[in-house]
Amino acid sequence: MVEFMQLADTQFGMRRWMSHQAKEDPQTQATRQQRWIDNGFVKEGELPNPYPVDVTDMAIESENYSKVLNIANETKPAFVMVCGDLINNLDQLDQRSALLEISEHLNKDIPLRLVPGNHDLCPDFHNASPEALQEYRSVFGADYYSFVADEALFVGLNSEIFDSSDLLGNEYETQMEFLKDTLHSQEAKNAHSICAFMHKPLFLEDPLDDDTYGQLKPTHRKDLMNLLEESRVSLMLAGHLHHNREAEYKNLKLIATGAVGYPIVGSCGYRTIALEPEVMTHRYHEI
Ligand SMILES: [Fe+2]
Repeated sequence: MVEFMQLADTQFGMRRWMSHQAKEDPQTQATRQQRWIDNGFVKEGELPNPYPVDVTDMAIESENYSKVLNIANETKPAFVMVCGDLINNLDQLDQRSALLEISEHLNKDIPLRLVPGNHDLCPDFHNASPEALQEYRSVFGADYYSFVADEALFVGLNSEIFDSSDLLGNEYETQMEFLKDTLHSQEAKNAHSICAFMHKPLFLEDPLDDDTYGQLKPTHRKDLMNLLEESRVSLMLAGHLHHNREAEYKNLKLIATGAVGYPIVGSCGYRTIALEPEVMTHRYHEI
């Protein structure tokens, strides 16, 4: 059995940025909260949390991330995975410094795994740039990769390569080739479970729903979804929504985990997952 911890949207600087924007333009809060409702960041029938006001620092993000890493140091998961939106603004380098400094607190015998989110690769939050991708790789290392832990295979993917495939040269083809090779490898055949990670959920409710910002764009979604499902991937963990959400496609279970940094709905938290042959258990822990 392998037990690990999954986090999402540490998003250092998000509260400060939201608070600043609302101060500059009082309409921002109403507009953005309505967009969250329209885009599926808020489930039907629920309301977004209050907007951050007068925030000038990253104290809450820092405190929450530290708290989760301290819990990891005590509980010793096989690894800690952060599913993207590590920071909020690419041009505010203090966000990255805070993330890197606190990450050092994780005991060295617990691997810290990361995949990038739209805020880590898109200067405008929506369209990835080749420069930001290169910068991410030079600071954080590979943006997609696989590893084995206790006979389970884990695959980290870069959702922004799928969603910005028209802006990133041959990155889409290269990542797909990597994914196919990984899923057809001997390691995959030997694994009792295969679990994938990506920032954006594959879909919110309906795999064929084609246009909401809270999920992977339809451009490559079906191909990816079918490849994962046909290759025995049984679990895909994501973030992006800043709240918890679950969905299913055939034998593939999709779970989006709430944010460490700012919860759009519900509370900040992290998830623990235990994988053993034929059995998967998971739990969201509020912090
Ligand atoms: Fe986010």
